[in-house]
Amino acid sequence: MKAIVVYKSKTGFTKRYAEWIVEELQCDITTYENIFREMIAEYDLVIYGSRIHAGRVDGLKKIKDLVEKVNRPKLMVFATGGTPSAVEGAIRGIWKASFSEEELQEIPHFYMQSGLNYEKMGRGDRLIMKTLAKVLNRKKDKTSDEVGCEEAIGDSYDISSREYVLPLVQCVQEMK
Ligand SMILES: Cc1cc2nc3c(=O)[nH]c(=O)nc-3n(C[C@H](O)[C@H](O)[C@H](O)COP(=O)(O)O)c2cc1C
Repeated sequence: MKAIVVYKSKTGFTKRYAEWIVEELQCDITTYENIFREMIAEYDLVIYGSRIHAGRVDGLKKIKDLVEKVNRPKLMVFATGGTPSAVEGAIRGIWKASFSEEELQEIPHFYMQSGLNYEKMGRGDRLIMKTLAKVLNRKKDKTSDEVGCEEAIGDSYDISSREYVLPLVQCVQEMK
């Protein structure tokens, strides 16, 4: 099966996960910015990876549209986010916001916890995080998830690990 990893990464977490996947699968790799229709047509499987941005998988619509137009490769998705994998309700919410019911059944999707990197973040994103911190700070009767989120977003952190690519890698290997 000819596969390509296509990734969109602003601060490097998704890029690193994409590279780990490529090392495991020995497949091709390119960026979201460099992908085009004719290129996708050469593959049986497109593995798209991106960050979670405000509760959704960033850039997913363009990739879904491209894959649908080409009508050849299968699509698989991985998403990186600051939410720990253990916060299962939040992760389920991300998938529900990013896929239709049908897509949830058809498109294999994997969550890989990452972190936050304020040093590499753009100014707009930093502002959004600052606003979120203020909102959470002012909120009364916070849920435990909100308290955890408030504590986590104060500084950069990294909870990524190579082991999180293994379920995706296994899924691809079983498709062969
Ligand atoms: C503005 C903004 C919004 C974010 N929203 C979420 C979110 O809703 N859920 C989540 O788990 N992580 C969220 N994150 C964290 C990113 O998804 C995480 O840092 C991601 O791994 C970044 O990927 P990259 O380094 O490849 O750009 C957000 C980060 C920023 C800057």
